[in-house]
Amino acid sequence: MNKNSSIYHGLVLGAFCLGFGLLLALTHRVTKEDIAARAMEDRQNSLSAVIPDSIHDNNPVTDTVTIKGGDGKELTVYRAKKGNQVTGVAYEISGIGYAGPIKLMLGVGADGRVLGVRALAHKETPGLGDKIEIKKGDWITRFTGLSLGNPPVEKWKVKKDGGQFDQFSGATITPRGVVGAIREGLAFFAANQPLMTQQTTPQTANPQISNEVR
Ligand SMILES: Cc1cc2nc3c(=O)[nH]c(=O)nc-3n(C[C@H](O)[C@H](O)[C@H](O)COP(=O)(O)O)c2cc1C
Repeated sequence: MNKNSSIYHGLVLGAFCLGFGLLLALTHRVTKEDIAARAMEDRQNSLSAVIPDSIHDNNPVTDTVTIKGGDGKELTVYRAKKGNQVTGVAYEISGIGYAGPIKLMLGVGADGRVLGVRALAHKETPGLGDKIEIKKGDWITRFTGLSLGNPPVEKWKVKKDGGQFDQFSGATITPRGVVGAIREGLAFFAANQPLMTQQTTPQTANPQISNEVR
């Protein structure tokens, strides 16, 4: 074929586009699988931090039920089971901080006690609000073992608001948002425990209770 013909140029261009398209599709596929694997790993890590190994013989990452959260959106509830009995659950809660929403993972035992809390995502200021992260301090571990009666619900606030939890020096907004989110998250558990812990077909959770702090 004449290398100067327009058909030849068209074929070269077509082959180039096809090759480039295939390369893009392959990269997309590999990246997508990578991202999914990372997300699964992150989820596994945050769940192991809020659900102690000793209370389950299943894998809570894959043992889930989806219910309707207080905000009307779907809420994934990760369940810890021992001998097929639900011993605890974990689910995402969120509060409003200084710089926007703070996403947290809350683990709650079947008895309503906090098993653990971890910050998943936030935009709080480094050195001020980011002390909610476990790698910056142990503040976030202070909720473990507590429940909505211990302390009484009116004490589930930062000290500055009359509650029992320390705020940070010069930064009250972030801890206030986190304490409120945990309080509301526990109230959500109390209102929806049968759906979250029993081996029932997923249904709609109690819409009266919000798991979001505004
Ligand atoms: C640049 C800047 C960043 C701030 N970041 C935060 C933050 O991440 N979390 C927080 O609670 N307060 C933050 N603050 C402080 C809040 O504006 C507010 O003053 C404080 O939370 C109130 O706490 P206090 O009642 O203990 O003074 C920041 C302030 C400034 C000027």
